[in-house]
Amino acid sequence: MARIFSGIQPTGELHIGNYLGAIRNWVDLQAEHECFYCVVDLHAMTIPYEPADMSRRVLDTAATLLACGIDPERSVLFVQSAVPEHTELCWILNCITPLGSLQRMTQFKEKSRQHHENVNAGLMNYPILQAADILLYKAGLVPVGNDQIQHLELSRELARRFNHLFGETFPEPQPYVTKTARIMALNDPERKMSKSIPGSYIALSADAEEIRRLIRRAVTDTGPRKEGMSAGVANLFTLLEGFSVPETVARFRDAYERGELRYSDLKQQLAEDIVRALAPIRERRRELLSQPDRLREILAAGASRARTVARAVMEEVRERAGLTF
Ligand code: TRP
Repeated sequence: MARIFSGIQPTGELHIGNYLGAIRNWVDLQAEHECFYCVVDLHAMTIPYEPADMSRRVLDTAATLLACGIDPERSVLFVQSAVPEHTELCWILNCITPLGSLQRMTQFKEKSRQHHENVNAGLMNYPILQAADILLYKAGLVPVGNDQIQHLELSRELARRFNHLFGETFPEPQPYVTKTARIMALNDPERKMSKSIPGSYIALSADAEEIRRLIRRAVTDTGPRKEGMSAGVANLFTLLEGFSVPETVARFRDAYERGELRYSDLKQQLAEDIVRALAPIRERRRELLSQPDRLREILAAGASRARTVARAVMEEVRERAGLTF
């Protein structure tokens, strides 16, 4: 059974797009795989941030993952900076990465446009650190969204290159792309749901009233009627598929086909199903955040398990790369 590795940035506020697109898949994969799940705080340093906020963001992200069903007994849940081998392997991979491969990266180009006053080397080397994350555990399968395929391609390229230069060491990690459609912004369904667009997302910590209000305000049709389903309504159906039982989805699809769908009915059903799904997550998250020491213990235990693997792999890497004397 292939080992799984995936990482998530400590944004501090995860939303239903993250849940349907990634986290729920992570939870399901635990049943049949050995999983390493990492809160990647070092990646989050590549754009300007407030140091005083970082530990809260990390704990919040970890609490949310646990609340969603990541089981720390079964999976290894840890924080990237707690396992220094990530940066150690990153340096070694740095030395075998062609600059051109980094400059070609779509995410690098976008982020350097977005943060043009701070285009640092970390931003460019971001995908090397990501490759180090994955290869350090010799992971075979990496659940990621579509936007990370290009980074995964580099991880594979670096695994091949290392093996070629220093001898067979790393398996080539395969991307495991989730089937869920992309969740779009509620107030702007042409764009992706994002924490940086207010009104676009429902946080996993949102209460019932907030959820109802955000769904009520979700954009359905804009402008003149075009052929087929509008992006906003399609997005509501994607969410309905994520949060409701198949019979409910079928009933609303039928109504749509017959031209009898009332958006207000769809929204009401969807809001209540989201409220029901998020209630236990919100409660568990609140409980975990009220015990930060317990949370730190879980993460320390995860880091210690991760480190056992990381140390052994690094020993092999050092030997292959000639760093023994
Ligand atoms: N770059 C990923 C993202 O933004 C996060 C990430 C860091 C990651 N390291 C990883 C994902 C390793 C998969 C594997 O979503």
